[in-house]
Amino acid sequence: MKGLILSGGTGSRLYPLTYTNAKQLIPVANKPILFRVIESIRDAGITEIGIVVGNTADQIKDAVGRGGRWGVNITYIQQEAPLGLAHAVKISQEFIGEDPFVMFLGDNVIQGGISKLISEFATSGWNSQIVLTRIDHPEQYGVAELGEDGRIIRLIEKPKNPPSDLALVGIYMFDKSVFEAVNAITPSWRGELEITDAIQWLVDNGYTVHPYIHRGWWIDTGRPGDMLEANDLVLEEIEYKIEGYVDRDSQVGRRVTIERGAEIINSVVRGPAIIGKNTRIVNSYIGPFTSIYHDVLIENSEIEHSMVLEHSVIKDIGARIQDSLIGRNVTITRSPIKPKAHKLTLGDNSQVGIL
Ligand code: TTP
Repeated sequence: MKGLILSGGTGSRLYPLTYTNAKQLIPVANKPILFRVIESIRDAGITEIGIVVGNTADQIKDAVGRGGRWGVNITYIQQEAPLGLAHAVKISQEFIGEDPFVMFLGDNVIQGGISKLISEFATSGWNSQIVLTRIDHPEQYGVAELGEDGRIIRLIEKPKNPPSDLALVGIYMFDKSVFEAVNAITPSWRGELEITDAIQWLVDNGYTVHPYIHRGWWIDTGRPGDMLEANDLVLEEIEYKIEGYVDRDSQVGRRVTIERGAEIINSVVRGPAIIGKNTRIVNSYIGPFTSIYHDVLIENSEIEHSMVLEHSVIKDIGARIQDSLIGRNVTITRSPIKPKAHKLTLGDNSQVGIL
């Protein structure tokens, strides 16, 4: 089998973080989501992986390279515009050839990996296997309606009145019949070739599409709140590992990882939390469910349930920072310059909550 990761798209719901950066490269518990996706495909025994890229192609290629680090072989497939998930499949036909494949959305995180799913599909004779999970607000996702015999009747993209609470998780398995489907369907009202339409086409034309119901957690990291939730869930599994330096005046909890070159000086880090490479935490409090990426400085400040990306500085902040997603190269400091006021330079679509 082959793997196909979709890493194009616009990422507009995560602006301004994704104006210039690929959302698939945002780190969850200090590891880019895309790396987690590559690892789950590799762990299922697949080594030939195609990555569909859009206008952030260069960044993705720089970060991932040819895949040697994971023992896999990466081929890049350029998509000229985000014309839909089924369009991404269509342009990947040459790479896939006659092989069955798993398609994984590059911004999805799933608990427990996909090895079982892949081995089941590989030996099944099914034309496709889709992954469903029960969720509270299915109207924001593709939703499946199953018959009493458990077979798929209908798939609907973002329905106003969902026929079930079974949402489509961003992992799909197909054999070559999917290429007939993606060539037969037409774009939806939003101008995209929808994967739900392609799967519906398979169902309507007598192909076997098997629904697998996933029971662990699954997060589509499309919005900032989802990103923090994904971070919480992955941090739940973090282990105690101290590779950096912790001075004698600091306290570090049991579920904390301190990466190489990081320094914790006169501070408290309460887990689950992760502190990235070469980051300095000085006279500060890092609360539970916080990921601080590499080369960050946090000094005389308190932060919890947040994510801070690389090369940012948080210094001398009186109030605790909480529930926040802070991008790269951000500086938050107390200003001595009069008048006493909040002085902000924020990108478009930024959100700031002030006391
Ligand atoms: P989405 O989250 O549906 O789309 P998006 O990335 O454009 O985000 P937004 O709605 O916030 O603007 O995409 C799911 C995944 O599939 C994501 O990793 C991007 C990728 N993708 C492609 O590779 N090609 C496409 O044509 C589309 C629509 C998405």
